[in-house]
Amino acid sequence: MLIKRPKGTQDIIPGTIEKWHFLEEQIRKICQEYGYQEIRTPVFEATELFQRGVGETTDIVNKEMYTFLDKGQRSITLRPEGTASICRAYVENKLYAQTLPVKLYYLGPMFRYENTQAGRYRQFHQFGIEVLGVENPLVDAEVIQLLWDFLQRLGLQGLEVHINSVGCSHCRAVHREKLQTFLEDRKDKLCSDCQSRLERNPLRILDCKNKNCQALTVEAPTTLDTLCPDCQEHWESVQHYLKMGDISFKINPKLVRGLDYYQKTAFEVMAKGIGAQSAICGGGRYDGLVEEIGGPSTPGIGFAVGLERILAAMQSQKIEIECTDKTSVMVAVLGDKARQVGFQLANQLRQRGIIAFMDLMGRSLKSQMKYADRVGSRYVLILGEEELEKGIIIVRDMKLGDQKEIAKADLIEFIQNIDSSEFEI
Ligand code: HAM
Repeated sequence: MLIKRPKGTQDIIPGTIEKWHFLEEQIRKICQEYGYQEIRTPVFEATELFQRGVGETTDIVNKEMYTFLDKGQRSITLRPEGTASICRAYVENKLYAQTLPVKLYYLGPMFRYENTQAGRYRQFHQFGIEVLGVENPLVDAEVIQLLWDFLQRLGLQGLEVHINSVGCSHCRAVHREKLQTFLEDRKDKLCSDCQSRLERNPLRILDCKNKNCQALTVEAPTTLDTLCPDCQEHWESVQHYLKMGDISFKINPKLVRGLDYYQKTAFEVMAKGIGAQSAICGGGRYDGLVEEIGGPSTPGIGFAVGLERILAAMQSQKIEIECTDKTSVMVAVLGDKARQVGFQLANQLRQRGIIAFMDLMGRSLKSQMKYADRVGSRYVLILGEEELEKGIIIVRDMKLGDQKEIAKADLIEFIQNIDSSEFEI
């Protein structure tokens, strides 16, 4: 029986991978421009990292983690997100001893055991940034600015930036009590998930997708109603800087995020035309996280973008990704001796950075020409017994339909000079 890929995963095959390369190039470019450095962490971590970091009461930790015991009986989890791992790496590698802030970006697969649907996968890819060591609200705005800039450069339209402040632990405690009091009489009408959230994590009730719960919480107190003076000042400054950066945003007091580490600023970006899973990005401030996992008290802020969702949004908005094929050379041979010389020739071309390949299927010369055409080789070098004897090679320009005889000794130079920039890999 055919073995299929696991549910919720995707193969990214040639023809599509070029789009990913394009996105990755854009990501590296913008991160460098804003002064971020790449970090790579393991795709699996000790389960405890996410239990403590992301939070025991979250859906991610409760329902969605790929957790298993390794052969040494350690509980291991495939990372469901990047922030907790980055904070762990920040502490473990003592990055806090460097000049602050530490500005990092990452790219890679994340794993969540979710109910799959369009835009929601079990293995998906995130591009994220994290800034560690800055309390100043200026950085909240700069992080959102980078995100906005990135999305604009891709040409995406009709995006909405939603922001909120979920306050610090002090204002959250006040909010929690007010919310629980508000929901007390409505408890029985909440969905079963929200009934259990009421004690454990009432804040998440505000963002329940159930229509009934949404109706019940229209008038519920939000975190913006209970911000302490410090959080209020921070919140106002973030808005001020965003306006200065000409970033239009919507204040969404119901935006509470699905991970427990957030404090103060929280934000998401929504895209139209990609179905129910419209959040292409989520992020916020997590000032307590580094300390929570055993490091020095360090403020932090960042976001992660879902790359599958970005590509879906680009596709639905008919944004073409230009995948310029690099010019390649095909060495077509006739006969055994020519094959050996051709083999060496292809090698020599590649040593000079030219994309060159040979037929590996034993095709006839005519089929080799067809093959070169199909794979888009601009030039074919034709080499048979006769050419070998004369010490020449026929160079055929497939685009112009022209061909020339070139002395074998001059060939490399000739190819390099046709248009050396076109031949660079
Ligand atoms: P998140 O909101 O859980 O935040 O995920 C960020 C983005 O990843 C989402 O907006 C979405 O585009 C994409 N995403 C999440 N789950 C899936 C899925 N199952 N399938 C496809 N795409 C998905 C975080 O992960 C935080 N670590 C973000 C952050 C960084 N906060 C501060 N720093």
